[in-house]
Amino acid sequence: MPALVLLGAQWGDEGKGKATDLLGGSVDYVVRYQGGNNAGHTVVVGDQKYALHLLPSGILSPGCTPVIGNGVVVDPAVLLSELSGLNERGVDTSKLLISGNAHLITPYNITVDKVTERFLGKRKIGTTGRGIGPTYADKINRVGIRVQDLYDESILHQKVEAALDVKNQLLTKLYNRRAIEAGQVVEELLGYAEQIKGYVADTTLILNNALDDDKVVLFEGGQGTLLDIDHGTYPFVTSSNPTAGGACTGAGVGPTKISRVIGILKAYTTRVGAGPFPTELFDKDGEALRTIGGERGVTTGRDRRCGWFDAVIARYATRVNGLTDFFLTKLDVLTGWEQIPVCVAYEIDGKRVEELPYSQTDFHHAKPVYEMLPGWSEDITKAKSFSDLPKNAQAYVKALEEMSGAPISAIGVGPGRDETIEINSFLS
Ligand code: GDP
Ligand code: IMO
Ligand code: MG
Repeated sequence: MPALVLLGAQWGDEGKGKATDLLGGSVDYVVRYQGGNNAGHTVVVGDQKYALHLLPSGILSPGCTPVIGNGVVVDPAVLLSELSGLNERGVDTSKLLISGNAHLITPYNITVDKVTERFLGKRKIGTTGRGIGPTYADKINRVGIRVQDLYDESILHQKVEAALDVKNQLLTKLYNRRAIEAGQVVEELLGYAEQIKGYVADTTLILNNALDDDKVVLFEGGQGTLLDIDHGTYPFVTSSNPTAGGACTGAGVGPTKISRVIGILKAYTTRVGAGPFPTELFDKDGEALRTIGGERGVTTGRDRRCGWFDAVIARYATRVNGLTDFFLTKLDVLTGWEQIPVCVAYEIDGKRVEELPYSQTDFHHAKPVYEMLPGWSEDITKAKSFSDLPKNAQAYVKALEEMSGAPISAIGVGPGRDETIEINSFLS
């Protein structure tokens, strides 16, 4: 059993944390390959609830080694506070490995994220304000600071100065802010160096050796397919590649090693931040999904925008990720509706369209074409097998599977680890 990728099939918050945690007990490594602490992954274990932002959800499984890959952007202050928060709750975090090639989110990246959003005004992206975009921009501009730079003070100083050269011009002359002093940034970063040192490793080598030894490696995506910088609803996206290919570049593992790609798919749709969302609801159904589903951001506390299931998006996720399976989450939230609308296609300027349009203009005009599926009223949270589900819930799942292009191999009927119906094992 080589490597598996688990990723968001919609706009994030599909339940990746729960799904990863569920598999964490059976895999050897769980690897974050992109994003940073813009993610908010909720894991419920018994009566304990954990909100993970930067750390892989496998950190809660004692036998599993959590890895932060080279493609992740790491805010060292957040890393240390997340680790100490878990340690205080009795979680052993000593196995964590962090790639020396991962880029650091510096205080000036956070400042630039916030001032850029303010400057964009009503055209803003609605970022999480965690410095994600500016840190990836520095990486691509070749002025980024990497974890390994913490261990060479002279290089660190030179690199921070180089990064601040242009930024200080922008901050002072365009944004009317005070310049940031390189020495102060270096001092702050050096303050984290020793505390992080024990975790830093050549994670690419370790993961490839592990795969050669037939260990099971699970790649845990942050965000989701439609937030991907290349394949998402650009520019209303995050600045990394949550799609399956990102696991290869973000961890240094070749595509030939990946045998399974699991898309986490909510039984309805949510989105945080700005950008198009064809099935968004502005009525009492939207409010009900938000309330029953607890749809409030784990990272920013913002209310999530809610809407019906969109099969066009699910099909697109199957295509751009090469999905082998879906894990359908939050089916329990839909209990109680007499009829459940599902978007099967779009109408764009009078024409029916079955596939996600590549044109941003077309997508902004897309109106959902709904098919009505019969609902159910029975409590499904105790269901342990597919046949325990009411007939209409079974039919809803089968209809979604048919429309989405990959088998639904597991169904979430509640937030807890055991509130899951397994149909096909992900690990066979
Ligand atoms: P992630 O970012 O993809 O890990 O998802 P979040 O943690 O941001 O949001 C998913 C929310 O749904 C969390 O509060 C989970 O505890 C919860 N959740 C996950 N799966 C299920 C499910 O099957 N049913 C219900 N009711 N809640 C779920
Ligand atoms: P998880 O991993 C939902 C959204 C932000 C914003 C856009 C860009 O919990 O699914 P960024 O700060 O990344 O530059 O913001 O992306 N966004 C998320 N939405 N879930 C997430 O993570 C998200 N991470 C970023 O709301 O619209
Ligand atoms: Mg989340």
